Amino acid sequence: MNPANPNTPGTPYGTLPSASPLPQRKPISLPRLNEMRERGEKITMLTAYDATFAAVADSAGVECLLIGDSLGMVCQGLSSTVSVTLETMCYHTESVTRGLRRVQGTAWVIGDLPFGSYQESKEQAIRSASALMHAGAHMVKLEGGGWTTETVRFLVERGIPVCAHLGLTPQTVHALGGYRVQGRSESEAQRMKTEALALQEAGASMVVLEMVPAALSTDLTAQLTHCHTIGIGSGNGTAGQVLVMHDMLGIGLGKTPKFVRNFMEGQPSVKAAMTAYVAAVKNCSFPENALHAW
Ligand code: KIV
Repeated sequence: MNPANPNTPGTPYGTLPSASPLPQRKPISLPRLNEMRERGEKITMLTAYDATFAAVADSAGVECLLIGDSLGMVCQGLSSTVSVTLETMCYHTESVTRGLRRVQGTAWVIGDLPFGSYQESKEQAIRSASALMHAGAHMVKLEGGGWTTETVRFLVERGIPVCAHLGLTPQTVHALGGYRVQGRSESEAQRMKTEALALQEAGASMVVLEMVPAALSTDLTAQLTHCHTIGIGSGNGTAGQVLVMHDMLGIGLGKTPKFVRNFMEGQPSVKAAMTAYVAAVKNCSFPENALHAW
């Protein structure tokens, strides 16, 4: 018997936490994210890779869970995301969505298309996106600028919501020459604006802006009225924020990026740390442009 919930059988390995209070929580959907943006409420996102952490993040009020290919680094111990496979992404997406189902979670689930699973053709992209949707994702994310526009349009027209990803795109780290801030020069900034508007026009309803100067991401947010900007290392002017879960819990293996705050500090539990993250994003006390942005 599980003492927390007499209807849920206990197991020798424990039980998943229950999300509370259950009856008031409505599933997050694109219209609900649009409403949040309209009333100026920031959107919160964390990465999640397994059932238990997904359930905890959901119960802490995180609206969007990204099964990021960063799992290559934080779960598999790889040195970059480049060799993560679609099969692995599907495995973790299934784990996350099973965890959410167990606690009647409400989070919006985004599956990351890994390197090599969408670059070849629109047909390859829809096959890969379908695999992530079958695994339980509500939306897929893909990295890249102008060249992805037609792929985004193709997926969106066929009913797959898409999150784009501009700025530092880790799958192309070798071409970019390292994990560096993107969009610093006037010409790079102009190109990113053109690409962002083209992605919105193609139907992308979200775009992750990674390591983009705060002034540029604020400007992009003002221009992208139908596509929610989700920043990571891009200042506090975006519609929402995302962090890699291990980073914000202070358990990352490598050097902590400048844009991360350790939300575990002073908190008694992982759920409390995630709740603090949600509160800090919502009240705009995280990120601080002077500390966490360029
Ligand atoms: O893979 C990932 O976790 C990501 C986030 C850093 C946005 O793409």
